[in-house]
Amino acid sequence: MNAHTYLSHLFSLDGRVALVTGGSSGIGRAVAGALARAGASVVIVARREAELAATADELLADGCRAAWVSGDLSTRAGVRAAAEAAAGVYGEPDILVNSAGINLRPPMGEVGEDVWDATMAVNLEAPFLLGERFGPGMAERGFGRIIHVTSQQAHRAFVRSGVYGVSKGGLESLARSQAEAWSSRGVTANTLVPGFVLTPLNARLQEDPETVAALAARTMVGRNGLADDFAGAAVFLASGASAYVTGQALFVDGGLSVH
Ligand SMILES: NC(=O)c1ccc[n+]([C@@H]2O[C@H](COP(=O)([O-])OP(=O)(O)OC[C@H]3O[C@@H](n4cnc5c(N)ncnc54)[C@H](OP(=O)(O)O)[C@@H]3O)[C@@H](O)[C@H]2O)c1
Repeated sequence: MNAHTYLSHLFSLDGRVALVTGGSSGIGRAVAGALARAGASVVIVARREAELAATADELLADGCRAAWVSGDLSTRAGVRAAAEAAAGVYGEPDILVNSAGINLRPPMGEVGEDVWDATMAVNLEAPFLLGERFGPGMAERGFGRIIHVTSQQAHRAFVRSGVYGVSKGGLESLARSQAEAWSSRGVTANTLVPGFVLTPLNARLQEDPETVAALAARTMVGRNGLADDFAGAAVFLASGASAYVTGQALFVDGGLSVH
């Protein structure tokens, strides 16, 4: 067996269907691109159509199979509609990536119920509902990969974790519950844990070069994360190679969490 055949055997996503929420920006966009280039047919879901179309067009131009669905994951009806529309493109997904997320940062004590509701809806309830919609089918078919994108703040409180940290902590638990439920039937559930990644999510923070440099200094690698740093880890967790990895949190953070 040559190296290419061996690597394909381990990691190829040929014939797989993936749904990536938040696939039009930042980490989700890089993950969608990685899964598509590894052979999966990818449907990305977010709200803004121009960003969705630009992402899908880039992948199509690269010879990939990619499509987009515009949907708002902040309401239950929105999640359900987006799930059905996404499954209508290439069929039921084998791989579900939950990267859509929001980070509203009022200080604890000033967190309104609106912030709590919005955060929980997008960051935790949408991944839960999508898991309920697609997990049982994956289990019936004997293969599935659920990948959530959480945060350092799922594990420890810093930089005003507030309710964002609560939602991401819940997401880590959701991955374990899903792993418990479906791993025996070929469906793994894991989380990718970013450090500080230069994406539109924290554009405002990036305007302060001192903060950016201070965060880079907290890593072991010596720089902040880039969305493309998630490509390899995502392909691994989406592929057959990770069949015995489930319920885990994979830190892709340049060593931030252990420094
Ligand atoms: N960047 C970091 O340093 C960092 C660190 C830790 C964790 N994370 C996590 O990583 C994930 C991706 O973050 P990112 O940095 O890549 O952020 P990003 O560039 O802002 O991307 C967020 C994505 O989520 C989509 N989205 C947001 N609200 C939505 C809604 N209501 N319905 C549907 N889609 C929605 C956005 O598209 P639309 O706005 O068009 O809907 C966009 O595609 C998030 O879960 C975030 O919490 C990021």
